[in-house]
Amino acid sequence: MKAFRTVQALQSHLSTIREDQTIGFVPTMGALHEGHLALVRQSLRRDDCTVVSIFVNPTQFNDPEDYLLYPRTVDADLALLESKGVDVVFIPTESEIYPHGRDAWKPIDLGGLDQILEGAHRPGHFQGVAQVVKRLLDIVQPHRLYLGQKDYQQIAVIRKMLHHFQLPVEIVEVPTVREPSGLAMSSRNQRLSALDRLRASRLFEALVYLEQMYRDEVPLPTAVQRAQALLDLPDFRLEYLVVCDAQTFRELQTWNDAPQKIALLACWVKDVRLIDNLPLDNPPS
Ligand code: PAJ
Repeated sequence: MKAFRTVQALQSHLSTIREDQTIGFVPTMGALHEGHLALVRQSLRRDDCTVVSIFVNPTQFNDPEDYLLYPRTVDADLALLESKGVDVVFIPTESEIYPHGRDAWKPIDLGGLDQILEGAHRPGHFQGVAQVVKRLLDIVQPHRLYLGQKDYQQIAVIRKMLHHFQLPVEIVEVPTVREPSGLAMSSRNQRLSALDRLRASRLFEALVYLEQMYRDEVPLPTAVQRAQALLDLPDFRLEYLVVCDAQTFRELQTWNDAPQKIALLACWVKDVRLIDNLPLDNPPS
């Protein structure tokens, strides 16, 4: 495995590889877990050369404390990636990513996706994500980009950005990897105590409960209210739990409003903000 810290060194290595090999790219912010590794495995399977980046991107953190407290475990991350057979790791400094300063960028038209749900609750977050992924794609120029469905709205934002810049990259979506308890794996889970981690599995339970009520044809507003009530617990603070059109993110009022539906939530557990989602399949007829 080769690790590069500068754009120039990475690009000169990749330029020869690109002549006759496909490049798969897995952007991450490190503190790697099985969720990240699911993306890595898919890239290793499908592409000749797998590039993983580790960069805790300051411009996507609307909360400075979240940025400071974000777990950083670079040595363990490198050992893990090496053990999985990753070809290339890119660990840039901030000045490599933002040579003209982190504020030198123009907003990207994300079609309003940055104003709703995660976008509404984390102002500036998706502009930061779109900006850093654009920069990383310009540097790495991969054939395929691997993204996790855990961050469902992020995938839509990145699709929009690719379309906006007409970038010829194929997105490969990877299903959410969960702890045995059902809790979606996340680097932020490291900030929870063992007990709170277990309690946080209630987030997934609320989504599964909602899915069950969908199958049982409980009216949507009632189902959402009951699922929300499941998260009315000490130390939990729900920001949103909604059912949306899986394509447009329009919030639904009845189950029949959209062919593909997804339940999405964001909830604080103590001082850690977690997100999760569950696509709702059509009920058996
Ligand atoms: P990060 O949170 O490190 O996630 C990197 C990638 O791993 C994302 O595509 C994310 O959706 C995926 N991922 C995280 N947890 C997962 C899980 N439990 N199951 C499946 N996939 C999972 O997302 C980011 O970093 C950043 O916003 C980034 C795209 C790197 C831009 O800075």
